[in-house]
Amino acid sequence: MTNRTPICAANWKMHKTRPEAAAFAVALPPLVAGELERVEVWVCPPFTALATTTEALGEAAIRVAAQNMHFEDSGAFTGEVSAPMLAELGVDGAIVGHSERRQLFAETDEALARKVPAALAAGLVPILCVGETLEQREAGDTEATLRRQVEADLVDVADDDLERVVIAYEPVWAIGTGRNATSEQAVEAIEFIRALVAVRSDAAAEAIRIVYGGSVKPGNAADVLSPNGIDGALVGGASLDPNDFAAIVAACR
Ligand code: 13P
Repeated sequence: MTNRTPICAANWKMHKTRPEAAAFAVALPPLVAGELERVEVWVCPPFTALATTTEALGEAAIRVAAQNMHFEDSGAFTGEVSAPMLAELGVDGAIVGHSERRQLFAETDEALARKVPAALAAGLVPILCVGETLEQREAGDTEATLRRQVEADLVDVADDDLERVVIAYEPVWAIGTGRNATSEQAVEAIEFIRALVAVRSDAAAEAIRIVYGGSVKPGNAADVLSPNGIDGALVGGASLDPNDFAAIVAACR
């Protein structure tokens, strides 16, 4: 048994206008009211809907994260948004290193090594995504890939701060494909990631939350997420509907 509070996070990706985000933020709190003492619930809207979402959530104990951030506080970086800018909006965290950003927008481990400490310095919770592609899994390179990402991305986080990071294990082949990892596959990868953190700090490895992401749906969430050691879920497509997302929150308990 652990004392880690499970996390269930909605990654909306490039979905929802401001009115749509506000409607979700009003609908969700009553649907998850009974879970909030046991599950930390997060919503990750696009930049344009962050302020609307924090405002519409009001006093509800639901946290809001961005989907990306720059590692510098300010500067000539056209199109980028910094961690202090997010904190000023009342945002609580930022997803960093999502595989869509790694694959489609050339996000590098070097950049992530700067983004994770920058998020922490601004008081944001970094939700760091790692995971192997299908080619890497089939070539037997899953552990080498996870090792490379976890070691590189956390290299400049102090051991004492590691437990403030949330890691999302998101196998690329399971994202948006309808093909979720089995709970055995998820547990195996998450235990491996936890062991990598333990190389740095046993206390951090015990405390850090490591969640699973990839085709989590209301129909499979209880099955995939039930084993000890999986500290919740990062949900894409099924998080766009408040009822579906609330059902997954309940499964994260
Ligand atoms: P899906 O749940 O749509 O597979 O997306 C997972 C994901 O990428 C969450 O960050």
